[in-house]
Amino acid sequence: MSGFPQNFLWGGATAANQFEGAFLEDGKGWSTADTARFIKENGISMAELLKPTTKADVEFAMNDKEGVYPKRHGIDFYHRYKEDIALFAEMGFKTFRLSISWPRIFPNGDELEPNEAGLAFYDAVFDECLKYDIEPLVTISHYEFPLGLAFKQNGWESRETIEAFERYARVLFNRYKDKVKYWLTFNEINIIGMTGYLSGGILADGEKNMLQAQYQAAHHQFIASALAVKACHEIIPDAQIGCMLARMEAYPETCNPLDVMESVNSDHNNLFYSDVQIRGYYPSYMNKFFRDHNITIKKEAGDDQILREGTVDFMSFSYYMSSIASHKKDGDTTSGNLLSSKKNPYLEASDWGWQIDPVGLRVTLHKLYDRYQVPLFIVENGLGAKDVVEADGSIHDSYRIDYLRSHIEQMEQAIDEGVDLMGYTPWGCIDLVSASTSEMSKRYGFIYVDLDDEGKGSLDRSRKDSFYWYKKVIETNGADL
Ligand code: BG6
Repeated sequence: MSGFPQNFLWGGATAANQFEGAFLEDGKGWSTADTARFIKENGISMAELLKPTTKADVEFAMNDKEGVYPKRHGIDFYHRYKEDIALFAEMGFKTFRLSISWPRIFPNGDELEPNEAGLAFYDAVFDECLKYDIEPLVTISHYEFPLGLAFKQNGWESRETIEAFERYARVLFNRYKDKVKYWLTFNEINIIGMTGYLSGGILADGEKNMLQAQYQAAHHQFIASALAVKACHEIIPDAQIGCMLARMEAYPETCNPLDVMESVNSDHNNLFYSDVQIRGYYPSYMNKFFRDHNITIKKEAGDDQILREGTVDFMSFSYYMSSIASHKKDGDTTSGNLLSSKKNPYLEASDWGWQIDPVGLRVTLHKLYDRYQVPLFIVENGLGAKDVVEADGSIHDSYRIDYLRSHIEQMEQAIDEGVDLMGYTPWGCIDLVSASTSEMSKRYGFIYVDLDDEGKGSLDRSRKDSFYWYKKVIETNGADL
């Protein structure tokens, strides 16, 4: 096999709302993520996560003195970034994916002047990365929308949010142009078609067709993303900027052509977003979907041109699992990242029911590369698991090593078979708060953080077995797995 390219970007991925903490420090405003509560009894079900959020729900959370809101405190990266980045450097990271908190820079989302303390914090973080030759890979918006703009104009449902976002993105490009050369616009942009509140600030008050609101919001994000791509190319000519999709690979349940058709439909539903961002126009297959769901996308003159001129340089995506597409809706289901699916008898699943499928990653890499012919970047992948700390402090997470090894093997094969893959940043390289359930006990990291679901613990960091293993993988550029 040809092996990994010499400039392959090994690293790890995080998001501000799940690890920074310091949620109202130094002028930061409220974000949608700050209202996500941990529910002890049963955890938070997917149905609950995807449930429409009203203004009253948000106000309740903002005033709730009893509840535990783990994303407000994260793992305190805000104050411990030096220690954490030193640990990433020890593993040999070439890149570190993090996001910028929009309300840390513009507390309400749409002020005319940015918050200097917020900008200074990221300057310090980037400087620390560059000290170790770690390239920052920055997501401009990752699952946290400024609450001020949610209340004022219902988030991305409003066209005015485009202007606020463009101003925010331009401030970032101008400020960090000498420090950041890899950018992503919206994390898992397709999620806005499922949960409008978390990533889009869309409140579900009054009688409204939520799907109409979510797809209109997606249109506004497409325009905002295209404008940001253009601005990035103007301000930082040597930077690359990509889109980011939660890839949902769904196999036909059987060779019944109706199941195969379901799988095609599932791809359309998923790839609609990257089709727009990479090809620069709306795919015709969405017309029927919009008709069937009474959706009319309001576009302005000039929007089509903005989309054509703002296509991304590369495609990044998250991949955790595969699922099943079936024309029959019966049978056992299992949960997954935002969609439940039938169980695949050939696959094992994580403790949270996510079906582990390394070959599916290779299938997806080929499908995406065949379709788009642009470089790909796996910016999230990993196993959420409960770790046990032994009496001597060690953590033997062989299950995590097995998961990652098997996925890296498939990446190497895909590269050998012709796929252009830029890099790999496993999710939650340091333990952080879960996006879907707000748990700490669902851990992905190479680095353990002493913190429990209720926010108790010393916050001390320690190295798991996977830490030493990944260090060796990077050192040998993937040759020693
Ligand atoms: C992705 C998100 O969907 O999956 C991350 O971009 C998230 O923010 C990750 O944390 C894993 O999901 P979870 O729910 O296990 O944290």
